[in-house]
Amino acid sequence: MTGPNTPAPRLRAEDLTLSYDRREVARSLAVDIPDDSFTVIIGPNACGKSTLLKALARMLRPKAGQVYLDGQAIASYRSREVARRLGLLPQSSSAPGGITAGDLVARGRYPHQRLLKQWSPEDEEAVAEAMRHTGVRELADRPVDDLSGGQRQRVWLAMVLAQQTSILLLDEPTTFLDIAHQVEVLDLCAELHARRGHTVVAVLHDLNQACRYATHLVVMRPGGTIAAEGDPATVMTAELVADVFGLPCRIISDPETGTPLVVPAAPRRFEREDTPDTGAPDATPAGAVLAETL
Ligand SMILES: Nc1ncnc2c1ncn2[C@@H]1O[C@H](COP(=O)(O)OP(=O)(O)O)[C@@H](O)[C@H]1O
Ligand SMILES: [Mg+2]
Repeated sequence: MTGPNTPAPRLRAEDLTLSYDRREVARSLAVDIPDDSFTVIIGPNACGKSTLLKALARMLRPKAGQVYLDGQAIASYRSREVARRLGLLPQSSSAPGGITAGDLVARGRYPHQRLLKQWSPEDEEAVAEAMRHTGVRELADRPVDDLSGGQRQRVWLAMVLAQQTSILLLDEPTTFLDIAHQVEVLDLCAELHARRGHTVVAVLHDLNQACRYATHLVVMRPGGTIAAEGDPATVMTAELVADVFGLPCRIISDPETGTPLVVPAAPRRFEREDTPDTGAPDATPAGAVLAETL
């Protein structure tokens, strides 16, 4: 929370009530996104992570409370002005039918265009750079509908990067990606954060990746409340994982990074249920067959 001597961060939410029609997702929810942080939000399915991100990006109007961006209620901005400061990669997006990857990425430039001054060299450069960063340049002419889930995810990410905002809100940016591409995307986020001073907020499911990359971890629990937040090294405990996810685990030190590594308790062992007697005279237990071959 913001103390009397710390300046308010650029993006924060105060006392939010979030709901869809009558389904209330969160109440009295307050979050500060530390400036220049790589904030990672984790929490069980359906606890309200996406809903919070939508509220932070003004895609969902809170029933009560307020989101502040650069000291002003986000609701008071013109939408183009919000889009110049903050970009959102939603969890699921559908592209206009038939649109190519290059054209979709170019849409990220919309907030920068003016009525009379249309496409500029800066727009061209921003799109090329975003596509280079996400490795989708060779997909530029392909219809988005024809791409694989992972390719499509990177094209959407390129669109958000082309927007060139200093705050990025990414809802599960690694979904659909294989492990190498997950690391690539997270490294890219870390680079944007470290080298260019972007504030990155990402919802992730992988707790270990969250601990590796987050400079600030926000843990949500069902009911849309914050269970814990802060440095992953202090936040991520076995008690927290048991409490929030209902998962027994132990926490060890990640051998690569020294950050917390969540190791779920060993899987339960299942005995084979009694099979009906087939009457076969030489029915041998599987273990015995294996033992004979050793
Ligand atoms: N568009 C919607 N209309 C109605 N309920 C929704 C909608 N989107 C999400 N919800 C509900 O709100 C709750 C929180 O959803 P969400 O924020 O998507 O969770 P998370 O991202 O943590 O998995 C869930 O119970 C979900 O079913
Ligand atoms: Mg979600």
